[in-house]
Amino acid sequence: MRGRFITLEGSEGSGKSTNLNYIHQRLQQAGIEVVLTREPGGTPLGEAIRTLLLDHRQQAMASDTELLLMFAARAQHLNELILPALAAGKWVLCDRFTDATYAYQGAGRGIDKERIAQLEQWVQGALRPDLTLFLDLPVAQGLARAGERAELDRFEREELAFFERVRQGYLSQATAQPQRYRVVDAAPSLPQVQAQLDRILDDYLASGIGVA
Ligand code: TMP
Repeated sequence: MRGRFITLEGSEGSGKSTNLNYIHQRLQQAGIEVVLTREPGGTPLGEAIRTLLLDHRQQAMASDTELLLMFAARAQHLNELILPALAAGKWVLCDRFTDATYAYQGAGRGIDKERIAQLEQWVQGALRPDLTLFLDLPVAQGLARAGERAELDRFEREELAFFERVRQGYLSQATAQPQRYRVVDAAPSLPQVQAQLDRILDDYLASGIGVA
């Protein structure tokens, strides 16, 4: 049986890395074999593309270039890692996926949604995440947390209005696809956020979806 494909999305500073590890542990404790990966990246070639995409010196990068590089990395990721893992019955837990493209390149940069949908169809065929968790946080709060990091990458240097559009992009996708999206309030303390994650994962596992 094909494994399940779970993605985690989040606003800047929403505690995505900590919560990704938490979800990973929870799934492993449930006896599930999980491959943990991320986008852009996840393969040697994808990580090289990620370095280009996040490099703050690449200020001249056009939005279409950014979009195509995201999907180039994704094509490699799917072929080399995600599809073989799912076919082997493993679950894949991915730190960001195509929902980030709709939010950042679509809502954030203003690229037409239809154009992204064409690339999605081309690169992924029918594959879509089975479950997507979005860690939601008011933009100002998230940027204050993210700003504490040593060096900001090319995306983290964007202005507040960009991140407002990104957040609204995620929220409208969540509204449009409630069967797969779960919005998690990332504003409270970590234990409270993780209690929400527990409920979502317990429900998902109890529903029997994907459990052989
Ligand atoms: P992260 O490791 O903090 O999630 O960094 C990845 C950055 O790349 C983040 O700012 C969001 C951005 N991104 C896109 O703009 N489009 C995409 O499709 C993906 C996967 C990530």
